[in-house]
Amino acid sequence: MHMITAKGLNVRHGQKAILHGVDFQARSGEITVVAGPNGSGKSTLVRAISGELAFEGSVTINGVDASAMKAWEMAAVRAVLPQETLVTFPFTAGEVVRLGLTTGIFSNRAVRNQMVEAALERVGLAGFSRRIVHELSGGERQRVQLARVLCQIWEPVGEEGPRWLIMDEPVSSLDVRHQLAVMELARDYAAGGGGVIAVMHDLNLSALYADHIAFMKDGRFVAEGTPAEVVTAEVLEAVFDCALKPGLPPRDGIFVLPQSAASQPTNLSLAAE
Ligand SMILES: Nc1ncnc2c1ncn2[C@@H]1O[C@H](COP(=O)(O)OP(=O)(O)OP(=O)(O)O)[C@@H](O)[C@H]1O
Ligand SMILES: [Mg+2]
Repeated sequence: MHMITAKGLNVRHGQKAILHGVDFQARSGEITVVAGPNGSGKSTLVRAISGELAFEGSVTINGVDASAMKAWEMAAVRAVLPQETLVTFPFTAGEVVRLGLTTGIFSNRAVRNQMVEAALERVGLAGFSRRIVHELSGGERQRVQLARVLCQIWEPVGEEGPRWLIMDEPVSSLDVRHQLAVMELARDYAAGGGGVIAVMHDLNLSALYADHIAFMKDGRFVAEGTPAEVVTAEVLEAVFDCALKPGLPPRDGIFVLPQSAASQPTNLSLAAE
C-alpha cells in the first residue's frame, strides 16, 4: 500500500490528448525516475499525480484515492518541486522556504526558523536566508525551491505513512557536485522510508541513483524496470530516437555515451571505437 499508483490516466489539453491511459507506480523506499523526450508528458504526469491537473483515471497515494484527499491532507503527504517556479515578488530565500511550512505543524516561530535554516543548509545554502531570490544564480534559486519543498515533508515517514518527494527535473540547473548532492538527498529520503519520484534528463545520474526507471514517449510508458533492465541501447534508441551506447564505467553503475543526434550514427567507425 505504500505506493503512489496511477491507473488509466488520460489528460487532454483542449482537443489534444497528452497522456493516453497511462499506468504508473512508485514504491516508498525507492527512487523512481521518469525519463523521456521533451514533450513526452513527464511534467503532465507529475502534475496529474500531484493533484494539480484534471485527469481521467485514478491516482492513489498510500492506498488512498487522491481525489478524496483534502488539499491539506495532500500537502502533508507529498511535496512537489515544479520544473519551473516563477517568483514575482522580491522575496528572500528564507521567506520562500518558509512557504513550505504552511501546513501548520510547526506553530512555534523559533522552530520554524530553525527548519528554514536546516532546509537551506540541506541544499548547500547555509547563510542564504536573507538573500533576495532574484539576486541568486539559477542553480541557487533551484535549490531554494527544493529547500521549500523539503520543509513541507521534512520527515520521510509520518503518521499517515511514507511521504513523497516529487521532483520535476531537480538538477537541471545544477553543477555536477550539487547534482550529486541532490541525488544523495533523494537517496537518503528513500532510505529513510519516504518515496521519491524524479523526472530526469540525465541518464547517467538516473542509472546511478534510480531504483526504478520508467521511460515515457508520446504520452505512454514504453519501458520500465531497474537501470540494468532498461538502460539498454535498444530501449534508449526506441525512446529517444538517437543512438546511445550504454556501458560499464570503471566503478559500479552504468553510463551512457551519446553517439549521434541521428538514430543511426553516421560515422560507425568512430562510434564503434
Ligand atoms: N497548458 C498546455 N496547453 C496545451 N498543451 C500543453 C500544455 N502543457 C503541456 N502541453 C503539451 O503537452 C505535451 C507534454 O508536455 P509536458 O510538459 O508534460 O512534457 P515533458 O515530458 O515534461 O517535456 P520536457 O522534457 O520538455 O519538460 C507537450 O506536447 C506540450 O506541448
Ligand atoms: Mg517537463
